[in-house]
Amino acid sequence: MNPPPADPPSPLRMPRGGPAAARWDRLYETAREEYLDRPGDPATARRVLRGLDRFQRLTLGYRTCARLTAAAFGPARRPRVLELGAGSGRLAYGILRAHPTARVTVSDVSPRVVAELRAGPLGRHPRARCEVLDATAIDAPAGAYDVAVMAMSLHHLTPDGVVALLSEGTRVARTLLLVDGWRHPLYLAAVPLMFLTGGPAQAHDGLISLRKVYSAAAVRTLAGMCGAPLTVHTRFALPGYLVVTASRSSYAPATADSRLRTRK
Ligand SMILES: C[S@@+](CC[C@H](N)C(=O)[O-])C[C@H]1O[C@@H](n2cnc3c(N)ncnc32)[C@H](O)[C@@H]1O
Repeated sequence: MNPPPADPPSPLRMPRGGPAAARWDRLYETAREEYLDRPGDPATARRVLRGLDRFQRLTLGYRTCARLTAAAFGPARRPRVLELGAGSGRLAYGILRAHPTARVTVSDVSPRVVAELRAGPLGRHPRARCEVLDATAIDAPAGAYDVAVMAMSLHHLTPDGVVALLSEGTRVARTLLLVDGWRHPLYLAAVPLMFLTGGPAQAHDGLISLRKVYSAAAVRTLAGMCGAPLTVHTRFALPGYLVVTASRSSYAPATADSRLRTRK
């Protein structure tokens, strides 16, 4: 008798280490929630974002992400950038400062985070606008941006959320750039520094993040499940980043009619 047919691959069953993740990697993975993902505790979430901001500045994380974003928009004269999961918004601010013709939509899924962005310097910046956007269902027309960038946030999405992000990000932007931690337990060595920059709350979220980040193999496999044919490159960047670029061959920039209005 023939064996029953294998179940088709499903993003719901994708381990963070990828389809061929070792047993230790599956045990290392955690389902624990970060404070950032708990809507009921805004004070702690704010502390985590402040700590992450210090950590990113200290480790030159924003500078690395801004450089990668600029490489992705290339020679565009007036680059249109969408930042997803912006948190403190400091990456967007760095891009605006370094590129005087760039326009940036700074977004996050959390209305509280976006309210704080609007109340800060980005809310008054003539080339920025702040929006509540879910990275897995982006409310923007196709081809509206040159680059959509998401830094340090990919691990907040479930595997089916990653599939949706890859599909949506490459629909609205010529290049989708994802930067997150590199999956390896050696990076647990960064947790004491997280404690120093953001106290127990950031150490808690940092430890969970390191155990939730996706491997390059997981992202590539999820990209293959997203329905649209994508060109995906994954690589390691120092000191410990996974860098993903994804694009669709069918990408076409938005026409003047469908382009986003430039309201704030
Ligand atoms: C760890 S913080 C990273 C913040 C910032 N990018 C940085 O590098 O400091 C993750 C952010 O992603 C946001 N986020 C989580 N799920 C999201 C989603 N589905 N769409 C957009 N943003 C999301 C959270 O609200 C949070 O602000």
